[in-house]
Amino acid sequence: MKHSAPAPRSVFAAPEPSAGAADGHALPLAGRHLVLALTGGIACYKSAELLRLLVKAGATVQVVMSEGALRFITEATMQALSGRPVLTSAWDAREPDSMAHIHLTRQADAVLVAPASTDFIARLAAGRCDEIVSLACVARPPQRCALLVAPAMNREMWAHPATQRNVRRIVDDGAVLLGPAAGAQACGEVGDGRMLEPAELLDAVVAHFQPKSLRGLRMLVTAGPTFEALDPVRGLTNRSSGKMGFAIARAAAEAGAEVTLVAGPVHLPTPAGVQRIDVESARDMLQAVMPQVAGHDVFVATAAVADWRPAEAAEHKIKKAADAAAPEWALVENPDILATVAASVEARPHAARPRPLYCVGFAAESERLLEHARAKRERKGIPLIVANLGPATFGRDDNALVLVDEQGERPLPAGDKLALARLLVADIAARLALASA
Ligand code: CTP
Repeated sequence: MKHSAPAPRSVFAAPEPSAGAADGHALPLAGRHLVLALTGGIACYKSAELLRLLVKAGATVQVVMSEGALRFITEATMQALSGRPVLTSAWDAREPDSMAHIHLTRQADAVLVAPASTDFIARLAAGRCDEIVSLACVARPPQRCALLVAPAMNREMWAHPATQRNVRRIVDDGAVLLGPAAGAQACGEVGDGRMLEPAELLDAVVAHFQPKSLRGLRMLVTAGPTFEALDPVRGLTNRSSGKMGFAIARAAAEAGAEVTLVAGPVHLPTPAGVQRIDVESARDMLQAVMPQVAGHDVFVATAAVADWRPAEAAEHKIKKAADAAAPEWALVENPDILATVAASVEARPHAARPRPLYCVGFAAESERLLEHARAKRERKGIPLIVANLGPATFGRDDNALVLVDEQGERPLPAGDKLALARLLVADIAARLALASA
């Protein structure tokens, strides 16, 4: 009996998917296979760090380097970090059937070109295949393997009409552009064209793979504490870090929403693609939120708004005096932002968006969690409230959440704040889809 010969094993095809993290937490890119392509540019030195981050996040990564890239960083560095031979030529003799450019992307989830040079973008726009990186991009199956392009070049090269025309063309052809950022450039000039930082590129790749359950929708989020001034140097505030609200803003942006984040005083970076408005006091927050209400579909109030503020703030620093008693302050209640928004939607459903604003509150309690959360949901006139124990979560990276609605309660599996935020966003998206079905 005659057996047909087995297909030769490709050196550059996807390996077995990586296992999850040893501690049982799912890595954000576990099971993903990426092709990381480097083209010529000084930003290549950052691609080594990017590769490390992608591998640490659970991805298996096959590196491809153009001739230009090899002038900036060695193949050995990228081989050591990826644990796989690097493809540098369409004529690589290690590939049994000489078709590395085909095998490379057949099991890949995405090709990430970082850095993408001016010349590479021009080649791709023209559909050229005379070097390995553009060849691999053109040969990929676009329905199952995304093309993510992170430009890196001098600001004049980026601004040139030919580059802009080529960028528009590759985007029209389905490429997803990551960046570029603006700032100081290796050449000493300042402007647009810097490659995004490795950590930002990692976040963008992770975001790319999230389900787009909020595409076309706009979400407004409040986050962090408020600060109520007593005098120019002192004030009343609380221990909220803003992490939960920022995670929700990030998860909503990953899910395709346009997100506006109204943040009290916190030291957190703005999630990619999120529009941020910084405020200080509860009254500032209310003022920032109200004009946004009509233009959004979902409002998630995670801010730990100070319930009271000093009736009067001193104009100058209050000084100690040897014979003076300790100062006393009268407090007045702050506006309830969530209740004000919910009442305004009830009174005047706006026509600017296809559906009325869906309001979600957070209940931060220190005891009798569900009892307080249920009462709060009704008092504020909102369909959904998310209950959590404030002292157990303030400042931490993980949390435990219970969703409380008219039907009852549902705990979300405990996890880090970003994982919980993604679950909450998916839950809100499902509720909106049900409501509009
Ligand atoms: N909230 C608000 N404005 C306020 C107070 C609270 O928008 N002045 C919002 C919070 O962002 C949260 C929800 O209302 O979504 C519940 O906040 P929480 O601090 O748990 O409750 P309070 O309404 O302040 O009630 P209490 O302090 O009595 O628990």
